[in-house]
Amino acid sequence: MSNLSTVAYLVSSVLFIMSLRGLSHPTTARKGNFYGIIGMTIAILTTVANPGVLSYKEIGTAFVIGGLIGSVIATRIQMTALPQLVAAFHSLVGLAAVFVAAAAFYNPTAFNLGTEGNIPLGSLIEMAIGTAIGAVTFTGSIIAFGKLQGFVSGNPLVFKGQHFLNLLLGLSIIGLIAKFCIDQNPEFFWLIVAASFLIGVLLIVPIGGADMPVIVSMLNSYSGWAAAGIGFTLSNNLLIITGALVGSSGAILSYIMCKGMNRSFFNVLLGGFGGEQAASSSGGEKDDRQPKQGNSADAAFMMKNSKTIIIVPGYGMAVAQAQHALREMGDLLKAAGAEVRYAIHPVAGRMPGHMNVLLAEANVPYDEVLELDEINRDFSDTDVAFVIGANDVTNPAAKTDKTSAIYGMPILDVENAGQVFFVKRGMASGYAGVQNELFFRDNTLMLFGDAKKVCEDIIKGLED
Ligand code: TAP
Repeated sequence: MSNLSTVAYLVSSVLFIMSLRGLSHPTTARKGNFYGIIGMTIAILTTVANPGVLSYKEIGTAFVIGGLIGSVIATRIQMTALPQLVAAFHSLVGLAAVFVAAAAFYNPTAFNLGTEGNIPLGSLIEMAIGTAIGAVTFTGSIIAFGKLQGFVSGNPLVFKGQHFLNLLLGLSIIGLIAKFCIDQNPEFFWLIVAASFLIGVLLIVPIGGADMPVIVSMLNSYSGWAAAGIGFTLSNNLLIITGALVGSSGAILSYIMCKGMNRSFFNVLLGGFGGEQAASSSGGEKDDRQPKQGNSADAAFMMKNSKTIIIVPGYGMAVAQAQHALREMGDLLKAAGAEVRYAIHPVAGRMPGHMNVLLAEANVPYDEVLELDEINRDFSDTDVAFVIGANDVTNPAAKTDKTSAIYGMPILDVENAGQVFFVKRGMASGYAGVQNELFFRDNTLMLFGDAKKVCEDIIKGLED
């Protein structure tokens, strides 16, 4: 049986790797998901078939309750709320790591880890590190959830001596782990948990709105390492491999996103080092200037007579679910002789790949969808930039205003196009709360309204 389960776990691990590979591109993402589902099914069946299982009653009950909650959430969740859902789920992985470690510490015999007070040093180290990472993941994810859901202010919370306090706490955790491993005293175990809970909060509160995407993927990575920690405690190789896969892929994604946002990976990892400057100006001050306003008929007329059009989708397109109407508009413009392409910013929307997924759902051809690096230079040779529900990702303050919360983030240079249309409902700022100067430029026309409705009106104008 043990050989059989080792082989089954190996198959699951390979399927998880194939799943990650598949998920790295929109054309193979469905296949990747499928491999992941098969791998997880094999992993669960192999685990519950283990002869060491004492009672199926508790497992079955947990499975039904958890499955029901998961299914209800999965069917009800709005795609725009996925980042906070992911953060909430990460917090549970972190808490599970703490509970498993506590269970193993208080009842080591049940986990084949020796007897109470005589747990081998290696197991104690694994337990303590797993607990610390799990506890950091738990509170860090709760703060991230609060920020993304709007329960906690999205502005960076910075105070004097913050980094010193983090350093002190970090060193204390290392000291407590050492003490716990020597004395095996439950007090030190709970002190590790308390200090890690605190540092989890302190690492995430200084992160400003615009950097939250990086933090969500960083917490994803932490939750993977916490799961690997549980794997060590339970001597479960699959959990170690899966945790390491999640941990390393999350870390790689965070690194890629940091590069995309022009942020230092270590600054974000260490809790927003250098965020103090940005904190001062992220309020989105009120502006009484009036922008130039156009309507759908103007936009339809101008775009029908344009040769090159770049569409820049953002979070508002996702809110309005405007992708199908947008694709129809693009098709009509192509039929009228225009070259239509889509420019995707690495953090447009509210999760990595958000815009790509929506455009793929609306059957926009992949070769028309280009990343920032591939298309940014082309704006200066483009007749129309059609910005639909995007804001921060076009904001030139990221290049010019050193005190801005988004300073340093690369942006799509839509301002270089001959004519810029901004489709949005009003003058509200974007996620980072920073006013966008482009709304007041001479070559900008605001098209106020819900993104889907505006596209449908433009379609009518193009068909007339
Ligand atoms: P945002 O800067 O958030 O701007 C979206 C704009 O859409 C808003 O200004 C809003 O203006 C408009 N809008 C909302 N609902 C609309 C609707 N129904 N119809 C038309 N317009 C609507 O979006 P972005 O440019 O995509 O930038 C993304 C931001 O989110 C970045 O700051 C990024 O750091 C952050 N973020 C990203 C992620 C990931 S991983 N992508 C995760 C978390 C946070 P009105 O209210 O005036 O309509």
